[in-house]
Order: sequence, then structure tokens, then C-alpha cells
Amino acid sequence: MTPDHAQEAKAGEFFSGFAAKWDSLYGGKRNLFWRLLDNWLRRDIQERYQLTFERLGPDLRGQTVLDIGCGSGIYCFEAARRGADRVVGIDLAEGMISLARQDCSRLGLAACEFICAPFPPRDSSTKRLDSFDYAIVMGVMDYVADPAAFLSALRPLVRKFAVIAFNAHHWFRAPLRYYRYKLLGRCEVYTYDEEQVRGLLAKAGFGKLDILRLYHSGGSYIVTAYSRQQS
Ligand SMILES: C[S@@+](CC[C@H](N)C(=O)[O-])C[C@H]1O[C@@H](n2cnc3c(N)ncnc32)[C@H](O)[C@@H]1O
Repeated sequence: MTPDHAQEAKAGEFFSGFAAKWDSLYGGKRNLFWRLLDNWLRRDIQERYQLTFERLGPDLRGQTVLDIGCGSGIYCFEAARRGADRVVGIDLAEGMISLARQDCSRLGLAACEFICAPFPPRDSSTKRLDSFDYAIVMGVMDYVADPAAFLSALRPLVRKFAVIAFNAHHWFRAPLRYYRYKLLGRCEVYTYDEEQVRGLLAKAGFGKLDILRLYHSGGSYIVTAYSRQQS
């Protein structure tokens, strides 16, 4: 097994067991104590959701959306509610995908489809992905061992732009998180600086970039990366 595949296997195992907890971060499902704590320590999760949909806009009729590392499908459902014709969510964690499929059928959102697979795809089931108007990659780059390969595989799938979150390096929170994950036997976690983000996206073939730096919750970059024809 290559180091990338080992990381995918560990991330898949971790997030499968964590699916219900992750899902509870959305939609006011947690009690007041946890909501206050989340608002202090994990505000980025709510903020990047809002920023993504500000960028995608209120009306997605006639558009297609790819959500890589879709988790329990929260972004996919909102894209479908905004009228997208087709929304494909991909995630390597079976626990996440089964939760997304359950909620999707409960919500009756026929535009959504979920695939359990790593990205970049390795077998024919996902290799045949067409291109999409928009892509969403939220909270995923933290776990990707080879970001250059990931972003190069993403670029040809995006017709307009991708909204991508990159975890920044915080002097205290990054090492704390790294050792916490190590101690708990979870997967690796990676951080980025702005120069790296720009370099990776340029090398992958993206054009214009809008980069917003969020400073709370350890910091992150929320990037809108345009395909060259949209720049
Ligand atoms: C922190 S969760 C974010 C879920 C969702 N995007 C959200 O923001 O609610 C990260 C997700 O990325 C998935 N993931 C990590 N690496 C991946 C890869 N290489 N291919 C597909 N999914 C991946 C994990 O299984 C996990 O469900």
C-alpha cells in the first residue's frame, strides 16, 4: 500500500466512525453547551458553509455541482435546494456516505447522487466522472497526502470554479491537533501557507484565485479557484 492509500484508509476509518458526530455540527442538532463551544473553537465550519453558498449564489438552476469529501451531504442538499440539476457527492468514508444517502431519501432530493470512493479516483466507477460547473472541497485538504495530485485531478472536472478550504498553520493549534490525532491513532493532518496554496493551484492549472484568510479556529484559506476560461 502506498503512503497516500494508507492515509485514505485511515481517514476513511476515522470519518466512518465519526459520521454522526460530524453531522451533528450542522443545523442546531447539538445542545446549547456544545453549540457555544463549537462557536468558539470550530466557527470556521459554519463560516465556510456560508461563504461557499455566497459564492455559488442563490439560484443554481441549470447548474451541476461536485462535492468532494462531501461528508454527510450537507452542502449537496443545499445545492439541490437551490435548484442544481445534478449534485454528486464523493467521500471515502462509508459511514458518511450511508448517512448522506439516508438523509437524501428522507429529504426527497432527487438531484443528489452519492459515491463512496477516494478522490482522485482509482477505479472505473469514478474515473468516468464528467465535468461540473462548480466543485466544493470543504474540510478535505487537511487529510490529503498528495495535494498536487488531488488538485490536478480536480481541475479538468471544473468548468467555472471550485471553492476549496485549506487549513492554515497555527503555531499552537496545528501541533496540538497533530499530536492529538497521533495519540488517538487517527490519520495524518496537513496544513498550508498561502504561497503553497497559490503554487499548488497554479500548478494544477487553475486561473484566477480569490483567497480569503479566516483567522479564527486555527485559521484557514477559503479559495475560489477559477478554471482558466472563467478567469
Ligand atoms: C471534515 S469532513 C468534511 C465533510 C464536508 N465537506 C463538510 O464540510 O461538512 C472531511 C471529509 O473528507 C473525506 N475525505 C478525506 N480525504 C478524502 C479523499 N481523498 N477522497 C474523498 N473523501 C475524502 C472524509 O472522509 C470526510 O468525510
